[in-house]
Amino acid sequence: MRTEHARPIRLSDYRPPDWLVDTVDLDIALHPTRTRVRSRLRLRPNPQAVGPAAVVLDGDDITPLSVRIDGVPMADSAYLATPDGLTIPQPPAGPFVLEIETEIDPSANTKLMGLYRSSGNYCTQCEAEGFRRITFFPDRPDVMAVYTTRLEADRDEAPVLLGNGNLIEQGDVPGTTRHFAVWHDPFPKPCYLFALVGGRLGARTATFTTMSGRTVALGVYVESGKEERAGYALEALERSMRWDEQAFGREYDLDVFNIVAVADFNMGAMENKGLNIFNDKYILASPETATDADYAHIEAVIAHEYFHNWTGNRITCRDWFQLCLKEGLTVFRDQEFSSDMRSRPVKRIADVRVLRGHQFVEDAGPLAHPVRPDTYREINNFYTATVYEKGAEVVRMLETLLGRERFRAGMDLYFARHDGHAATVEEFVACFAEAAGTDLSQFMLWYAQAGTPELAVTRRHDAQAGTLSLEIAQVLPPTPGQPSKSPMVIPLALGLVGPDGDDLPIRLAGHGPVDRGVLVLTRAAETFVLEGVPAGTVPSLNRGFSAPVKINADLTSDDLRFLAAHDSDPFNRWQAVQTLASELLIENVAVIRAGGAVRHDGGFVHALAAVLADERLAPAYVAQVLSIPSEGDIARDIGRDVDPEAIYLARQALRRALGNDLAPTLRILYDRLRQDGPYSPDAASAGRRALRNVCLDLLAAPGHPAAITLAAAQCAEADNMTDRMAALATLALHDTPQREAALADFFERFRTDPLVIDKWFALQAMIPDPGTLDRVRGLAAHPAFSLANPNRVRALIGSFAQANHTQFNRADGEGYRLVVDTVLALDGVNPQVAARLATAFRSWRALEPTRRAAARAGLERLAGTASLSRDVADIVERSLGER
Ligand code: BES
Ligand code: ZN
Repeated sequence: MRTEHARPIRLSDYRPPDWLVDTVDLDIALHPTRTRVRSRLRLRPNPQAVGPAAVVLDGDDITPLSVRIDGVPMADSAYLATPDGLTIPQPPAGPFVLEIETEIDPSANTKLMGLYRSSGNYCTQCEAEGFRRITFFPDRPDVMAVYTTRLEADRDEAPVLLGNGNLIEQGDVPGTTRHFAVWHDPFPKPCYLFALVGGRLGARTATFTTMSGRTVALGVYVESGKEERAGYALEALERSMRWDEQAFGREYDLDVFNIVAVADFNMGAMENKGLNIFNDKYILASPETATDADYAHIEAVIAHEYFHNWTGNRITCRDWFQLCLKEGLTVFRDQEFSSDMRSRPVKRIADVRVLRGHQFVEDAGPLAHPVRPDTYREINNFYTATVYEKGAEVVRMLETLLGRERFRAGMDLYFARHDGHAATVEEFVACFAEAAGTDLSQFMLWYAQAGTPELAVTRRHDAQAGTLSLEIAQVLPPTPGQPSKSPMVIPLALGLVGPDGDDLPIRLAGHGPVDRGVLVLTRAAETFVLEGVPAGTVPSLNRGFSAPVKINADLTSDDLRFLAAHDSDPFNRWQAVQTLASELLIENVAVIRAGGAVRHDGGFVHALAAVLADERLAPAYVAQVLSIPSEGDIARDIGRDVDPEAIYLARQALRRALGNDLAPTLRILYDRLRQDGPYSPDAASAGRRALRNVCLDLLAAPGHPAAITLAAAQCAEADNMTDRMAALATLALHDTPQREAALADFFERFRTDPLVIDKWFALQAMIPDPGTLDRVRGLAAHPAFSLANPNRVRALIGSFAQANHTQFNRADGEGYRLVVDTVLALDGVNPQVAARLATAFRSWRALEPTRRAAARAGLERLAGTASLSRDVADIVERSLGER
């Protein structure tokens, strides 16, 4: 075992590797419990290293069977094998060949890191530090080597053998039941991109002709018999490949691109060179089993992993502190792809909902960290919303600051300059500074300072001068280890909506027109004087969410309703409605806690009715406007002394009011949006279903039996999972006999399909009733549940902890107890997934005192447990730490 209380790793301690590896030749004989790994490394001293040094290789849970240098076996005393590696204190002075043999047991691997088995097939996961569970190696991304892998297995057990790169040889092993395949990857890569797959798999295949006319064989491998469900993923791959050529000029570089779906996977998917491995939930789709959201996720994840081929693989990270260099940038790229494939405003709204719902929450609590952390204890705990989502926002701000063309020039320079290398964030940003001829040193603070900037905006209109002054102050709150901060560069896209509802030109007094309407803030407080602004003009701030900040502006409810009716920026039009709702909800939360009666706001209902009536708006967009802030959104906006029960009640009251006041319109829309004909997952059809199902949910909110019956009928009769699931989710919110009947029927229909049963687990875990605790306990003992499968754990326990605000945060602390019990039971099986679950406590300090004490007790129970994994210990200690 590794040392669980290892010292933190610091960015400032980085030094280049002492030894480089030019080639890696692996010979892997697969066996369920005794897989033999022979590794042959060509090592040479790094000219950039400080001097002659020992060879230090990482290892995790493996022991060397034999070690040879230039073909000569080493005496046991000539090397040192420890639980976390292998050291050769006195290696040859120059280049040499090191051969190491290990034996591993993939069937016993429950952590799903390194080589493991899933549904009887062999697969690997090496990012971040899994390769060291296969063989001894300098397991760091700045050691890039050319790999050749010979795979051997029983032909019956593993007729399919896949590796990185191109297949160069295959055949039978004479006189045995075994066969082999040799894969060669000509592109140097870090070991975290190594992968192999062996098993009985079926495939959907196609060929892709690249922009320069090369032919690439594409394959999507799935459990035999499920090939039908791999078609959408294959099409999404082709669209991704074409888009990267068109949008970024990036072409695929091998003769083969394979994707394999596996049922047991810690994350969503992995970008191994030429051999992506996916959680099957992001591959398998059919109209009967996958929702529109599932289809959209599949398309986005396929794109994301494919785009890593250039941003991550061809150019990788120097060290794990630079993780956002590949993840933030690749999320930005997949967001752009989805925007081009679907609706840009709807995609932006969805992305900002995710950013606020996860990243803003993380940034406001004890786990806050910069986009580029400067220290970590367990790197797996830094694949966070901050690195991914805020990391993508930082790239987006570069584009907003520089404009599309100069941004693209910076990307081109980055690809040209760093191809084949392991790069840093500084090197990335330098490409943009150079390509655009601008200074980006203050911009680097976005990578270094944690926390969400808060902008206070005060208006002053001078009727005589026709000017509007915007006084803008920025504050960046303290975060763990960062008590005080410096002002950031903030690109604030501005609109001025004139009294007639049309946009006015943005002109700064004394400076003229503002390029693309983007004000660039650089100081703690500054004032922008805009000219040519008549009275009655309303500013539209942070259009398109140009910067990931919180805005406190002195806009009145009338101003917000005006923007909700007229803003030409669809994002801010949506935002205006959200802000109105949020202000109303927060007011009513206070009223409820004080024992008063909730305020009904006819003005808000009217604003929504106007959007509903606007036939120029796309249904998908209207669905977003109609979806009021979530319980999590409200809790985050309240920020302290949070009472989840009061939030739930205030939100329910508003939903009921909307359902009652808008009933006739909702019902007409529900009927009008009905689609006959076969299901298609395209964005326009999905948008109509989305709006129709929001209508159904609001219609049912007041609990009228007719609406419940409508939902029950839709659930029973739907010919696609989107409509069935939406109706079931609506029913789940109402404690009626129809609910239990629909849940039972759903289980019977899909009992053989684990991915669909996950939806059934998740939905029940999210029911906001006191009975849910016992329901979840019961489901955890259901034969379809298993702690060994991350998807099952996330569906049942993850949904309860992350998405059921009232029941996870029960005042009696029983919700916390259930989650702590699960973290402890899971920690010995799969510490990575256990640690992820433990992050559900990240907002504990913001709770009202009773719940805060109960949540703290839960964390302390974890902290007090002996033999906690490093993964969970890291999360728990930081969660409890002072801030
Ligand atoms: N490189 C990651 C997968 C990964 C994450 C490996 C953490 C090891 C540890 C992959 O590119 C990724 O980011 N996957 C995401 C989905 C993506 C669409 C954001 C995931 O797995 O959640
Ligand atoms: Zn990624």
